[in-house]
Order: sequence, then structure tokens, then C-alpha cells
Amino acid sequence: MKGFPVICILAIFSFCYFSLFPGSKWRFYCPGCDQRIIHPHTIIHPSHHRLVNIPREDKTNISHILFGIGGTASMWSRRRHYCELWWKPNVTRGFVWLDNEPALGDEPWPQTSPPYKVSADTARFKYTSWYGSRSAVRIARIVKENFQLGLDNVRWFVMGDDDTVFFTENLVNVLNKYDYKQMYYIGGISESVEQDVEHSYTMGYGGAGFAITLPAELVRILDGCIDRYAELYGSDQKIGGCMSEIGVPITKELGFHQLDIRGSPYGLLSAHPLAPLVSLHHLDYLQPLFPGMDRVASIRKLMNAYKYDSGRALQQSFCYDLTRNWSVSVSWGYTVQLYPFLVRAKDLNTPLQTFLTWRTWSQEPFTFNTRVLRMEPCERPVIFYFDGAQELGNGNTVTWYRRPQSMQWKQCDRNNFAAAYMVKSFNVSATYLNSRLWTKAPRRQCCEIMGGSDHQDGHVRVRIRGCNRWESVTPP
Ligand SMILES: *[C@@H]1O[C@H](CO)[C@@H](O)[C@H](O)[C@H]1NC(C)=O
Ligand SMILES: *[C@@H]1O[C@H](CO)[C@@H](O)[C@H](O)[C@H]1NC(C)=O
Ligand SMILES: *[C@@H]1O[C@H](CO)[C@@H](O)[C@H](O)[C@H]1NC(C)=O
Repeated sequence: MKGFPVICILAIFSFCYFSLFPGSKWRFYCPGCDQRIIHPHTIIHPSHHRLVNIPREDKTNISHILFGIGGTASMWSRRRHYCELWWKPNVTRGFVWLDNEPALGDEPWPQTSPPYKVSADTARFKYTSWYGSRSAVRIARIVKENFQLGLDNVRWFVMGDDDTVFFTENLVNVLNKYDYKQMYYIGGISESVEQDVEHSYTMGYGGAGFAITLPAELVRILDGCIDRYAELYGSDQKIGGCMSEIGVPITKELGFHQLDIRGSPYGLLSAHPLAPLVSLHHLDYLQPLFPGMDRVASIRKLMNAYKYDSGRALQQSFCYDLTRNWSVSVSWGYTVQLYPFLVRAKDLNTPLQTFLTWRTWSQEPFTFNTRVLRMEPCERPVIFYFDGAQELGNGNTVTWYRRPQSMQWKQCDRNNFAAAYMVKSFNVSATYLNSRLWTKAPRRQCCEIMGGSDHQDGHVRVRIRGCNRWESVTPP
């Protein structure tokens, strides 16, 4: 399907999804084109587990992280809603660094935003990227300005953009895998190969966010790096240059998402790699995560699931119902895909391509494999979206997933699909994914469809659990 026209990849998903909502803002425009022509995360590189035995009292918690958010005074009122989705006043520590004093008038700075600071003047630094913005210099220096505040008990300096959404419990768990008394530089790269080629395969992309321990050595040379790497476009590239001088490589963690893609992130988030969800970015440039909802409400909805079992958010499990030859793929807290035929595990595990590359809006390449989402309705899964969650006690939760109302995408008229279209919801039960599981050898959890094929009420029950010995998703 190499010749598959570009527009189809976007349209193919928008149709079943957005044509239903005439008020949807999605258009074929390119809001980021005048900004950064670049940018995260990779599914191909295994994360470098550096496991240490950390005594319980020494465990990193949220208070040990100092966030540095790159913001601008004029944009903050339009960007703050993303930050405020994850920022917890008096719990998360850090600052949004602005270019100027905000023009607040009589209004106080919002209590729900991180406190702000105004960055020092950077006029003396060199910046020669012909297509970039000098603000990259200021943003690169945030880690230094944060460090020089000299705050107590800070182990990790985490940088993010004003439109980065962090999943802080998962961020803490991921950082806990690493010894904060050694030098680390942790993050993710761009999904779009064109971005990695243009900018770098070996830096933590700023929008995905990155975490640094012991920044004193970085801080010592940072101002010099800014001049030495004057031609580099982005703040994150300048940091990457500095880290290279120190000799500390990026440790890639698969849950940091730069989301350098166009269209819908659905395919990627419904086949998330086996790693905790740490960040999402570029949400203003992507279709909302949920049909019929705006972007911010969509993230709030995902977070509503996340808060029930943070480590499980977006974790994929799949199983067959062999009485009907169904394949069911769950992305916990987000979506269930029902295929009324048997799909091989490797295919279920491969993201459906509901997106294009960031800069050139091309079909490929990405830093991971994708599957074509076919126009033909008989080859598409029936899709259900997260609708609610409940705690059942003893660490058990149930989440439910429904089909969007008035699905207008052409339906498949084969018999096997008729039964699939009868399903109204999936009810998925699971037990808290213990955060310690992430420090073990990764293995996707298994699931089973409960109650045989007797789903006359249209509600299918799925149970997610650890796999049994010898258990695999293998067709008979
Ligand atoms: C975080 O850990 C420190 C010990 O290093 C402890 O004093 C503090 O109460 C903990 N904070 C939270 C929010 O758990
Ligand atoms: C945060 O702490 C300050 C000082 O202790 C207090 O005045 C303020 O109300 C707190 N804010 C929130 C949102 O809890
Ligand atoms: C499931 O598929 C297998 C292999 O294609 C076929 O032999 C079997 O009859 C199918 N079962 C049902 C219930 O459709």
C-alpha cells in the first residue's frame, strides 16, 4: 500500500470519528509549520534498565523532582490548561519560566499553574539557526536557572514544554528504576524519522520531556555549549550537545511521547509499547483522543482512567474468543478493538497508522512499524472507547468501553461483523498493576473473555491478568 494517498490516512480515521461531529475543529492546516519544523519517542530501542536495589526510605517520590517548564508570557493563558491537568499545587515542585513578566493586570497569577519565574536575558548568546527562534537559548538555560535556585532535596531536574502533559506517578516510577546518585539523561526521541535525521537520534526531545540527575557538570559548561551549538535549532539539541561533551548518552524510555505526528494518535496509543505512560505532547496539533470531545476534555478523560491504576494506563492486552473467532485488543483506559476474525499477535501489537509524519505529512518512515488502516469496513476493527471506571476493592478495578454513538462509517455486511456490531460495551476487569512489575523482565499481560459466547445483553466481559505459564496468544 505504498501508493496509499496521504489524505486517506487522515480521512480514513477522521471519517468514522470526526465527520460525526460537525463542530469538530479538525482541518487540513498546519499550525506548527511556522514553529518548530521538528521533533519523540521510540518503540524500537529497548530501554536501558539500570536497576539498583533502592532501600525503601530512599525511594524517589514526587517531591524530589524539580520541573522546569518552558513558557512565554503571551502564550501562557492559552497553554496553561495542559499544564494544569497534571500540576498539583503544593505537591509538584517547579516553575514555568517566562520570557517576560506576565501582563496580569489586577489578576493574580493562577493558583492552579506552576509558579512562574522570568528567565535571565540571553542577548549575549549566539543563535544562528536560520529557521528557528532565539527562545531556544532561553529554554536551554532553564535547567541551569532551576539548578541555581539551590532548592533542597532535588534529585531529578525534569524539563518540559508548556504543552507537555506529564503522568507524574508513572514518571516517578520510571525514575525510580535509576540511581539518582549517578548521572542520567532520560527521555525519548521523535516518532518521525525525518525529525530524528534533521535534529538528532541521541537527545531527549524537549516536548516529550526529559530528566537529568546531578546537573552540576551540565550547568558548568551550558553557556559555552549554547554558543558552540549556535546553529542548532532547538533548546533540547543544545542540551544534547552539552550532554555529549560530558559523555552521558540518552537513556530512552518508551513512555515519553514527543508525538511528532499529524492526524490522530489513536493507532499509537491503542498499541502502546510495554512501558508506563510518562508524557504526551503536541496535543493541539493532533485530533482529540476521544471522538466528540475537545482536546483538553479528552486528556481529562484519559486521566480519569489513569487515576484508578496509573501503571496500567494504555497497557495493551489481547486475547481470542475461539468460540466465535474473535480477537480483542484492549488498551487499558483508552480503547478496545474487536476484530471478528483471528488476528496474529504481532499484528495486534503493531500500531494502526492513523497519522502522518510531522514535518512533511508523509506516510513514512517512523521509528516503529505501522499497519495500514484499510478503507474496507470488513478489514477494520470495531472500536470502543473508554467510558468509565470503578474500583471494586482489593485492588480490583473495572473499566468500560462503548462504541461512539451514531457510527457513520460504512459497516461491513458479513455475518461475523453483524455479531460484533451487536456488542454495546466491553467491561474490563483488572488488578492494580504493581509498579514493581516494571522493574522485572517485561511481559505483556494476558486476558480472557468471560462467560463464553453468551453475551445476549451486548456487554462483553474481559479479565486482564498475568499470563500463566505456557500461555501465549496463539491461534489453534
Ligand atoms: C518523599 O521522601 C522523603 C524522604 O526522602 C520524605 O521525607 C517525604 O515525606 C516524601 N514525600 C512524599 C510526598 O511522599
Ligand atoms: C499551598 O500552600 C500555601 C502555603 O502553605 C497555601 O497558602 C495555599 O493555599 C496552598 N495551595 C493549595 C492549592 O493547596
Ligand atoms: C474459526 O476458524 C477456524 C479456522 O478458520 C474454523 O475452522 C472454525 O470453524 C471457525 N469457528 C467459528 C466458530 O467460526
